[in-house]
Amino acid sequence: MRLFDKEIYQQRREALKKAMGKGILLIMGNGEAPMNYQANTYHFRQNSNFLYYFGIAQPDLHAIIDLDNDTTTIYGNELTMDDIIWMGEVASLSSLAANVGVDVVKSPDALIEDLKAYPKKSIHFLPPYRIEHQTLLFDALSIKHADQAAKASLKLIKAVIAQRSIKSSEEIEEMEKAVNITKSMHVRAMQRTKEEKYEYEVVGDILKQCKNYHGSLAYGVIFSINGQVLHNHHHDNLMVSGRLVLNDSGAENDMYYAGDITRTFPVNGKFTQKQKEIYEIVLEMEKSCIEFIGPGVKYYDAHLHANSILIERFKALDLLKGDTSEMLAAGVAGMFMPHGLGHMIGLDVHDMEDLGEQYVGYEDGQERATMLGLKSLRLARTLQPGFTLTVEPGIYFIPQLIEKYKSEGKFMDYVNYDKLKEYYDFGGIRIEDNVLITEDGRRVLGEPIPKEIWEVEKIMKRREA
Ligand code: GLY
Ligand code: MN
Ligand code: MN
Repeated sequence: MRLFDKEIYQQRREALKKAMGKGILLIMGNGEAPMNYQANTYHFRQNSNFLYYFGIAQPDLHAIIDLDNDTTTIYGNELTMDDIIWMGEVASLSSLAANVGVDVVKSPDALIEDLKAYPKKSIHFLPPYRIEHQTLLFDALSIKHADQAAKASLKLIKAVIAQRSIKSSEEIEEMEKAVNITKSMHVRAMQRTKEEKYEYEVVGDILKQCKNYHGSLAYGVIFSINGQVLHNHHHDNLMVSGRLVLNDSGAENDMYYAGDITRTFPVNGKFTQKQKEIYEIVLEMEKSCIEFIGPGVKYYDAHLHANSILIERFKALDLLKGDTSEMLAAGVAGMFMPHGLGHMIGLDVHDMEDLGEQYVGYEDGQERATMLGLKSLRLARTLQPGFTLTVEPGIYFIPQLIEKYKSEGKFMDYVNYDKLKEYYDFGGIRIEDNVLITEDGRRVLGEPIPKEIWEVEKIMKRREA
């Protein structure tokens, strides 16, 4: 198990203590999650808040930072002989705790007793998203499952978000490693994609590459010739010449930092003229938005910037007509890019989403829009140095959506519905990179991953040789 230096965890906890001032901070870890029976579990993933403050990636651990008595305790079981027989001997919990600067280790039973002994209103906890968190909150604090999210501590939520939003240099180093593993998954996918192969065959190559570099998946692989289906986790299509394939896949490295990259390329290795035209628009949106962002810029404005490029270029292709600012305000671009431009990334692929998207991505008083596209924007706030985020514009032709809007008479003044028919079998294109906001601008994380048409075609040509 790899950890940062003990001082890093101590400094993180000190900063949290300072932000909170007083009270009892409960940081819950994750347990194993059964797949089809108790002992057959999904891949274990520690809770990211626990990882951030305590680092130890083992199941069934929780921690209390007691600001009123100035103690920090990790609760969990030491290994039994049965654990050693079945799982092998690993470092004791007390030595792992010492490695992250915690000297007090107690049993899970003591956690319930200790929590019961504190005044209830002094206890701060984060929103539970696992059944084991809900059970603990019920057993120790008698809070019903349905009431727990509302009773989570807004003060603690905001303190954790403020801290985790600004990545330190050692975190950025880990994120670059995650993106570089992800790069190898994407290059390999381009090298292995061929007409008359099934999508799952290439998904196998992506997984192999991820494992080869000691990574795990940061989220389920999206690899599909139906790129217009945004989160498409099916991999059973036969890839046919003339289609594009969209690959949205990312590794988390052995310190649990995520990469989240998308590339789109032709199954047969050569873009058609029509595919080139749309691809170049998405690439322009992506590169221009990366240039657009920096400290002090509202990410909401970057989303609209992407939308305005889409509208301008669609006018040139005769797919849209009319005034760009009118179309922007009416939400016409959402018809072709029904998702947000990006989100925070870090220990979670959608970083800190468990703490509430509105607190992570929006400032107090900043309203969330309701129109298609903007309503799915997870990050809208003003960017600060140290933020890491994705920039992921896309263009999708979703026949069912287009037909629905047409039958409703929606956007009739702006949309050339007849011409759009030529794109019903086009699919979708997304291009996604991970970006750090710096003091004076921004920097794309990791080694460059091919995205220019000539670069993609060059890799795919070598595959054919
Ligand atoms: N991979 C999921 C996303 O891009 O948000
Ligand atoms: Mn993303
Ligand atoms: Mn993605």
